[in-house]
Amino acid sequence: AKAMLRDGPLLGRRILVTSGPTHEPIDPVRYIANRSSGTQGTAIAEALMSLGAEVVFVTGPADAPRPIGAEVVEVETARQMAAAVDAALPCDAAVFCAAVADWHVVDAGDSKIKKDAAGTLPSFALAENPDILATVSQGDKRPALVVGFAAETDDVIANATAKRLRKGCDWIVANDVSPATGIMGGAQNAAVLISADGADPWPLMSKADTAHKLATRIAEALQ
Ligand code: CTP
Ligand code: CA
Repeated sequence: AKAMLRDGPLLGRRILVTSGPTHEPIDPVRYIANRSSGTQGTAIAEALMSLGAEVVFVTGPADAPRPIGAEVVEVETARQMAAAVDAALPCDAAVFCAAVADWHVVDAGDSKIKKDAAGTLPSFALAENPDILATVSQGDKRPALVVGFAAETDDVIANATAKRLRKGCDWIVANDVSPATGIMGGAQNAAVLISADGADPWPLMSKADTAHKLATRIAEALQ
């Protein structure tokens, strides 16, 4: 029923959104992850659908509700997210909102690691996860518009500008997550849109308003 109501400037456009954290198992009860509620990703998917887009929503184990009306693909690890993203292509645009864990534990086992009576600490070999955004940006199924996110501290614009060039995406939505801003884990965002045209700072606004502003910019870019 939802699909029949669809209308707007993104009608007929298929857009991929990644969202949430990934969990990288250490053993069956423990994992490595980045902080992410999935709130921004769900808001972006909903904003894109409100402009008429068909959304494929690839999400890790996030707390936020899933966007109603999207094609939802649930994954746990970065490697599973990379495979699900590849399977979702081709798309007209892709928005990489997920807080992907940078490393996974090599040979994570099926047995729970037990504390050692002598206090000997476990150690883990880590391997780098695939960079999903960079792979898609530089791949042969590249969407016409590729948008990354960056949570930065310190020199936000310089870091995000370098990240855009390194990954090969079109835009980076950068957020200053220095503890003093109170942004991390909060309801609001102060984003800067980094593109080939430079840095466009957006005012402090709710995650829903950030999502609508981004969806509108995406619709303009795909015209
Ligand atoms: N990203 C991704 N796959 C990864 C890591 C990151 O797709 N393995 C995407 C994120 O979804 C985000 C963008 O890349 O859109 C930037 O993520 P970020 O963690 O800021 O970039 P990194 O290259 O991992 O840099 P850092 O060392 O700052 O964590
Ligand atoms: Ca990272």
